[in-house]
Amino acid sequence: MTESYSPGLEGIVAGETAISTVETGLTYRGYAIEELAEHSTYEEVAYLVLYGELPKAGELAGFRQRLGAAAVVPPELIETLRRIPAAAPTMDVLRTATSMLAHFEPEAADSSHAANVRKTERLLAKLPVVVAARQRLKSGQELVIADTSLALPANFLWMLRGQKPSEKQVKAMDASFILYAEHEFNASTFTARCTVSTLSDLHSGITAAIGALKGPLHGGANEAALGVLEEVGSVERAEAWVRNVLAKKQKIMGFGHRVYKDGDPRAVYLKRLTAAVAAETGHQDFETMAEIIETIVWTQKRIPPNVDWPCARLYHYFGLPKDLYTPLFVVARVVGWSAHIIEQLDNNRIMRPRSIYTGPAVRKWKPVGNR
Ligand code: SDX
Repeated sequence: MTESYSPGLEGIVAGETAISTVETGLTYRGYAIEELAEHSTYEEVAYLVLYGELPKAGELAGFRQRLGAAAVVPPELIETLRRIPAAAPTMDVLRTATSMLAHFEPEAADSSHAANVRKTERLLAKLPVVVAARQRLKSGQELVIADTSLALPANFLWMLRGQKPSEKQVKAMDASFILYAEHEFNASTFTARCTVSTLSDLHSGITAAIGALKGPLHGGANEAALGVLEEVGSVERAEAWVRNVLAKKQKIMGFGHRVYKDGDPRAVYLKRLTAAVAAETGHQDFETMAEIIETIVWTQKRIPPNVDWPCARLYHYFGLPKDLYTPLFVVARVVGWSAHIIEQLDNNRIMRPRSIYTGPAVRKWKPVGNR
């Protein structure tokens, strides 16, 4: 057996996928994310990731109709969302809710390709309802019923606030969801694939992926990235803060990536969009702080920002509570996770890597009196 391994599986190819690649910039099913974010909608991109092709008009209309019809959650789940202590992080509540939704899913035990596609559409429609409902219940507000005339990201903002979002906000929210939708074999997607490789079910795979995404080294970085800017506090403090943190060899959330060493194309795209929203919402100070930090991190460590660095600011400029940022990542990424689950099951072999043993050599058992 080999006596070496790659820590964190860095550089290890763990399987094949036809869903996306980061080898030539980031493409979903062959389409560049810059083109998709510029010209498409999240619902079109979710269809592309799930079915493999951009939808024709009739296919998109049918997809939207099914999502609208599924944008409700059982009253038992609403009651649970009401009773979970207010201090529980929304990521934990979303993990619980996703697992609970399986109990009300008629095809929960059917892991066929077709059933998993249908279950994916229902989860895609229900998770935004869960996140918006939990936030309103926590804030003592009445629930807002989904408006099925609105596309998914706009519907989320409607259910969260009870006000129709502006065209610009919808476009920016849509772009952020498109950029979050899918990303090859990242930690949470690999978790989902590994979970179902035992022939476990889709909801178990998605619940496991939510647990993995929560960590601040992964999806949790978007909430942590806003925490960085809140801690810096002002433009005047930015340079000293970042130099101090780098001197102490601490990591700055929102920077670095395992596969993008010259820059995350999603961060590059979102930076322009975020700056435009900052100008409209009077947040130039945050943009200046972010620019100072980016410049010094790049100059000192040649480490570029990842998607979470601009996305955290974008959601902040929309006035969204920080506790919802990683749940929004889940709402957007559930289609990518599900597509990988379906792909894994279409050509499955259980995942079971080996390890190098570093424990004690074989030794004899002794009765407790002789230890
Ligand atoms: C996502 O994989 C994906 O595709 C994930 C994702 C997706 O869409 O699914 O893209 C989403 O998770 C983006 C990443 C969000 N995470 C963060 O922003 C957390 C901060 N970043 C780091 O923890 C780190 O960069 C990782 C986790 C993203 C990558 O970890 P690696 O590849 O194991 O890199 P490393 O920790 O070995 O760091 C290599 C060097 C070290 O310096 P040296 O010890 O060699 O001198 O780079 C330094 C690190 O100290 N470094 C950082 C840094 N990230 C790496 N230094 C300061 N700040 C950072 N953020």
